Amino acid sequence: MKFINFITLIIPLFIFSQRDVLYTSMENGKSLYEDFCLRCHMPNGKGIDGIFPPLAKSDFLFKHMEKSIKAVKFGGIDGEIIVNGVKYNSKMEKMGLYDDEIADVMNYILNSWGNKHDKIINKDYVKSLKN
Ligand code: HEC
Repeated sequence: MKFINFITLIIPLFIFSQRDVLYTSMENGKSLYEDFCLRCHMPNGKGIDGIFPPLAKSDFLFKHMEKSIKAVKFGGIDGEIIVNGVKYNSKMEKMGLYDDEIADVMNYILNSWGNKHDKIINKDYVKSLKN
């Protein structure tokens, strides 16, 4: 019985702390987004049709998450990509963000403008990605 009490106490604590980790990361991510990404991907994450792809409800982002994070880390994707049925052939520049900043900005874009991702991106994962 005591064990059950312990479990019912610890589970919500765990869920709340995970949520706090995400919120803190998203908050840092928001200001990074405003400094680095907004000028191309726009404040509403919708980009500019045919020039800068959308991040809001982007099928590419969720289907090719690792490739997308690498694109932010190493600077763009070679060749053409199709996002929500529209072709994009310009290249994202290398912004020189640290791994923890990339994690924060990813957590922000993955959970904004109607996007939802239940896994938190962390710095170690970003660090492990090689070009
Ligand atoms: C100079 C304009 C520019 C800036 C600044 C920029 N991007 Fe991009 N982004 C692009 C272009 C162009 C692509 C298309 C992929 C390619 O060919 O490089 C792209 C692709 C992407 C993709 C994958 C495609 C998609 O739409 O889902 C993600 C994710 C992304 N950018 C996130 C970011 C984040 C996060 C930042 C800021 C840290 C950022 N971008 C800054 C131009 C930009």
